[in-house]
Amino acid sequence: MDHFSYKNGQMYAEDVALQDIASAVGTPVYVYSTATLVRHYTVFSEAFSGLDTLICFAVKANSNQAVLATLAQQGAGADVVSAGELERALRAGIPAEKIVFSGVGKKPYEMRAAITAGIKQFNVESEVELEALNAVAQEMDVIAPVSVRVNPDVDAKTHHKISTGKSENKFGIPWARTDEIYERIAALSHVSATGVDVHIGSQLTDLTPFRTAFEKVVGLVKNLRANGHDIRHIDLGGGLGIPYDPEAESPPSPIAYGAMIKEVLADLECSIIMEPGRLIAGNAGVLVSELLYDKKGENRRFYILDAAMNDLIRPAMYDAFHTIVPVKEPDNAAKITADFVGPVCESGDTFAKNRETSPLVPGDLVAFKSAGAYAAVMSFTYNSRELVPEVLVNGDKYAVVRKRQTLNDLIGLDSVPDWLKS
Ligand code: LLP
Repeated sequence: MDHFSYKNGQMYAEDVALQDIASAVGTPVYVYSTATLVRHYTVFSEAFSGLDTLICFAVKANSNQAVLATLAQQGAGADVVSAGELERALRAGIPAEKIVFSGVGKKPYEMRAAITAGIKQFNVESEVELEALNAVAQEMDVIAPVSVRVNPDVDAKTHHKISTGKSENKFGIPWARTDEIYERIAALSHVSATGVDVHIGSQLTDLTPFRTAFEKVVGLVKNLRANGHDIRHIDLGGGLGIPYDPEAESPPSPIAYGAMIKEVLADLECSIIMEPGRLIAGNAGVLVSELLYDKKGENRRFYILDAAMNDLIRPAMYDAFHTIVPVKEPDNAAKITADFVGPVCESGDTFAKNRETSPLVPGDLVAFKSAGAYAAVMSFTYNSRELVPEVLVNGDKYAVVRKRQTLNDLIGLDSVPDWLKS
């Protein structure tokens, strides 16, 4: 459930009309709903009631300071994958002891920053990373807490670009080497193993791959404990999908997911860490864009928007579906079909092909739904397009929580060497 709906003929975010935000801030613009973020966080945490659970929001899904501060107020921790995300989480008020650091390529300076902050754990993804972390911890004279991310070789049955738990993926320690790496940790002086970590992919719409992976991990924890390792936490990653296209997809509810996890963990007596990203933020955001032109192609009709692939890459990158709705509630005019495209000079700059829609006229606004996760964070400035603003709504209030980039911000990063200056 989200808090974007029509009232008085207009699409609202909670109690604010998207049209009002667009008039004040311009388009394209991302708009997030506080009530939806809080609701998703609450529903997710309630699904784990009774278990000792730390919910670490995957910051990569949406790293805006206001979004993170909203979740911090709810008690969320953070899953970060870079020094940048670590800094964002800390600045937004997420306590270091609720932060886990994932990712296959942590640099020494990033490890140092995380140790200095005092994070809960490093999710280590390889033997070489483990040795590097041990060296950094030794230099700093501390013992770094680690969980090993294991690769259970399970097919998540999601888009191949967001599947991470198969042996051909770069993530995690190969299943056959898991015992060995825990022995290595025990032998190293400045790392200590406190947990096991797994994350098999994103936008999963079926519980079966999760169950298969989690059962393997529970077996591993028992085995490691039998071999004398003190495994206290189990980090089950993120990945639960959301209904981008409610008519085509019905992912399992957080309640069903939580119930499955409780059943699989049974009497394991581990605290658990969850790393949801999309489930918390995905349906808490929309991207509002204006129709620039209604172009008649030879056989197709192109609705050319002012948003482009650089603002929302998901359709171009994953063939992802985003519902596109008119901001002004449509009357009962007959539907037409059109391709929704952006102004960028790439054929891939296409949001939807042959999409059935109410007819629109230039100047009309549309909202891309489910644009709260992996949307603004993945934007870039191709074609020298400025990064677009982000707005957070809370009831009848709203605030610009990231201002629109200016051309000076953008071009000012370049410099011209002396030899080119006359
Ligand atoms: N934990 C780890 C270690 C991850 O790599 C990810 C996502 C998550 C948690 C959060 O997964 P979620 O609950 O959001 O599914 N850009 C892609 C998604 C990439 C996901 C990467 N890892 C997209 O737009 O679909």
